[in-house]
Amino acid sequence: MLLTLQAAFTLFQITISGAVIDTFNNQEPLIQPYNALDCPIDIPLSCSNKTEVENSCCFEYPSGIFLQAQFWDARPSVGPKDMFTMHGVWPDRCDGSYDQFCRLFSPIKSARAILEQFGENQLLDEMDRVWKNIRGNDDYLWVHEFNKHGTCMNTLKPSCYDQGNYRENQNVVDFYKRSMQLFKTLPTYQWLAQSGIVPSNSKLYTREEIESSLEEHFGHPVFVSCRGNMLQEVWYFYKLHGSIVAGDFVPIDTVRASRCPSKGVRYLPK
Ligand SMILES: *[C@@H]1O[C@H](CO)[C@@H](O)[C@H](O)[C@H]1NC(C)=O
Repeated sequence: MLLTLQAAFTLFQITISGAVIDTFNNQEPLIQPYNALDCPIDIPLSCSNKTEVENSCCFEYPSGIFLQAQFWDARPSVGPKDMFTMHGVWPDRCDGSYDQFCRLFSPIKSARAILEQFGENQLLDEMDRVWKNIRGNDDYLWVHEFNKHGTCMNTLKPSCYDQGNYRENQNVVDFYKRSMQLFKTLPTYQWLAQSGIVPSNSKLYTREEIESSLEEHFGHPVFVSCRGNMLQEVWYFYKLHGSIVAGDFVPIDTVRASRCPSKGVRYLPK
């Protein structure tokens, strides 16, 4: 199992990370397999342990609930017309409260500069398309997301990486990579459309219609948020099995209750 994981991870790195290409020149992998790959398979799910978990590089604590938040920005309209855009991946504590701007590691100034440095051009192209700031400066939003939320993910600490081979900001790259991977598994627009819920200037939806369509696809109740009566965000909840980099996000029910009106919800076209 360990081998399979390791092989899958290596493959993933070679496919996605331009930085790893350097490894072929000096034979030695530039980025060693992440220590978290050595995590025991029977590590408990985050926020579900009955006893202390020693290796915190394998276990997210104290923030073990994760949300993948997506925007529907119709006024003003931002991003592809048939897609909810990426807001971020946030860690919550097990009781639903949350930490932010943690000091586990240093804040960054430009996500774009770091991703360019690592040769992550494909990832950057994807982020440019779907990780949009309604105020226009996407890098500003990406930086904010890492500094506010990413810094509270303890398995992303530089000390969780193989020190001989850790390249500064690899954890930052991993944060964006894993966030985008998770986002891509959640095609909110298509899920709603399959239930006949499509953007409209005139049609009104009930909150329940929207919630049950998304629950059907995600397998668990999700959180929908509105601005006034306009649908504005969808949040999907997870616990984590293992580390951010190599672990599995396991879907759970929303831990928050929606405050969207129960009837007359607008889902406006972009
Ligand atoms: C779960 O693990 C964390 C980290 O080791 C520990 O601090 C916490 O007390 C554990 N929770 C329970 C209920 O034992």
